[in-house]
Amino acid sequence: MQKADLIIIGGGPGGYETAAEAASRGNNVILFEKSSLGGTCLNRGCIPTKCLCAAAGAIHEINNSVQFGISCRNVVADYSIARRRAETVIEELRKGVEEFLKDVTVITAEAEFLTDNRVEANGIIYEADTIIIATGSKPAELPVPGAEYTLNSDDFLKLKNLPERLTIIGGGVIGLEFASIANAYGTRVTVLEFCKEVLPGCDADVAKRLKSYLGKRGIDIVTDAKVVSVDITRTVTYERKGKTSTIEGDMVLAAVGRRPVIPHCKEGLSLPLTEKGFIAVDDSFLVDGMNDVYAIGDVNGKCMLAHAASAQGRVVLGEDINIDVIPSVVFTQPECAFVNDKTLTATRTLKLPYSSNGRAVASGHPDGIVKLGYDEESRRIVSCSVVGCHAADIIAEAALAISAKMTLKDMRRSVHAHPTLSELLYNAIIMSAANE
Ligand code: NAI
Repeated sequence: MQKADLIIIGGGPGGYETAAEAASRGNNVILFEKSSLGGTCLNRGCIPTKCLCAAAGAIHEINNSVQFGISCRNVVADYSIARRRAETVIEELRKGVEEFLKDVTVITAEAEFLTDNRVEANGIIYEADTIIIATGSKPAELPVPGAEYTLNSDDFLKLKNLPERLTIIGGGVIGLEFASIANAYGTRVTVLEFCKEVLPGCDADVAKRLKSYLGKRGIDIVTDAKVVSVDITRTVTYERKGKTSTIEGDMVLAAVGRRPVIPHCKEGLSLPLTEKGFIAVDDSFLVDGMNDVYAIGDVNGKCMLAHAASAQGRVVLGEDINIDVIPSVVFTQPECAFVNDKTLTATRTLKLPYSSNGRAVASGHPDGIVKLGYDEESRRIVSCSVVGCHAADIIAEAALAISAKMTLKDMRRSVHAHPTLSELLYNAIIMSAANE
């Protein structure tokens, strides 16, 4: 039997970042990964899609440059090259992860739970005071006849070329990011979303604007659409407002959420699950009814984002992290980003369009809006939603302000450089004060 201070199951961002941090504090850490280090984020998620989103962004910039008098006829956008580049980026970053884990014992094997403090892998038993489960998630299956004719996001990332016509089932984060990528390469994209608006759960006003901007770029988005079947010809049948319709395509991508990957347990032991099948944990990510066994990241279903997983790992290691404020970004063209303090509710909202911002207009990106939510009484900033270019970067300032419990007045006191997109938040506050 081998002993350690800490065993971590799963080498995604939650697992490997927590392992490296714990090792840097002098702990003896064993990390089990059954596949490639980096998990979904590095191998099949954030990083490859961001490589492709960057390629899509470059195509959009070329198309957008006509207004500057730059004519780029005969632009050749070869998807297969962008995809190969993504593989190179993944390999480079994986080397970085391996280096990061130099003080951690990494075992390439699937670990099986034996007891609260023991796991088994390759016939060897490992014991530790604490075990962290960070086994992540996998694409959810589409629960309709013909699901076998659809691809999931893992399959999609393996494609060497894009189809002429793509139907995407699910207008959530993955569906819209892939829609943006394929659209930039000239694929005719239709998105079918079950809910009344895309990105359900996010600010509906901002989501509606994003839908309109994506529509202007030629992406057809049908909301309130319940997919009922897919057939071998890749025709998707859906119901909308009592009417049944079909969409023909060359390929169908199902992006209908993700499900947890629960580690195997030896007979006699089982992990407590929530109704939705995630590992049940308390606010400190301790697994219900178990001693010193924690579950972080997608597997607990609390917030399925890479940075949330690593933040939860830091909480388990005893760090004071504000996990009530976690920004999220959708890397569409244009980007969309959200953050709020989940313990608070905004009672008032400020809005400012990108078209009022000198930098946005000068750079040829006037489409967008920022929304700041605040508490009327305390004037504390509690939420922010942005759609428009560089939304992913703008949201960082809002996240910091919300986490630091800043008021509108605090934000006003801080001088913002001109002309920058950061003035959007600042000016939303200045202009609202002028109107009061
Ligand atoms: P999601 O939950 O964001 O969206 C799935 C969408 O599919 C929902 O809008 C849902 O209403 C719709 N849907 C479900 N069944 C349907 C049906 N039968 N017909 C039509 N629509 C249907 O899940 P998604 O996009 O698969 O992403 C999974 C997770 O990964 C999310 O938690 C997301 O936040 C995370 N993620 C985050 C990224 C980022 O931060 N940039 C990038 C990619 C994923």
